[in-house]
Amino acid sequence: MTTVTLEPGMPQTIGEAFAHIGSVTTPTVLDIKVMCLVEAASRELYRATAATSDNPAVAGLLVENGDEEFRHAVRAAAALKALTGEDFTPPSADENPYLADGAFPIGELTPAALRKLAQTEFDGDALYEGWAATIGNAEAAALFRANGKEETDHGNRLLQAAALLEG
Ligand SMILES: [Fe+2]
Ligand SMILES: [Fe+2]
Repeated sequence: MTTVTLEPGMPQTIGEAFAHIGSVTTPTVLDIKVMCLVEAASRELYRATAATSDNPAVAGLLVENGDEEFRHAVRAAAALKALTGEDFTPPSADENPYLADGAFPIGELTPAALRKLAQTEFDGDALYEGWAATIGNAEAAALFRANGKEETDHGNRLLQAAALLEG
């Protein structure tokens, strides 16, 4: 395996990466790479979260979100390619430096925690919309918007999961 090496200036842990990326309004090439790594890692975090569920319907919604997060990493890499011509491959779990300490559940499987997580997904749509608006490249903007739209789908799935737990 070839673990992706974190470049100078990149957040060194996944917690720092999430915090950083959420604060970026005009992304640099480095920010888009961090986003790509975070999105790729998020598939594993959703899977780890699903593994803590004894409700198959809830677990299924979480896995569905996770699979789309990896597709977001692929789109982020495509945006990078459109902007710079650079090839950047979204890493698998064992090659992702932000998963060096392993995957972990994103949160507790309670209705309140799932609703809170849903809000971070809705915020993700707004974040991507901001990136699309400032990136100055039509292809990258369309890729960011496609990701953003699906972050809203993720939020809605999490609200659905919360409702299932309350059912
Ligand atoms: Fe995503
Ligand atoms: Fe998401």
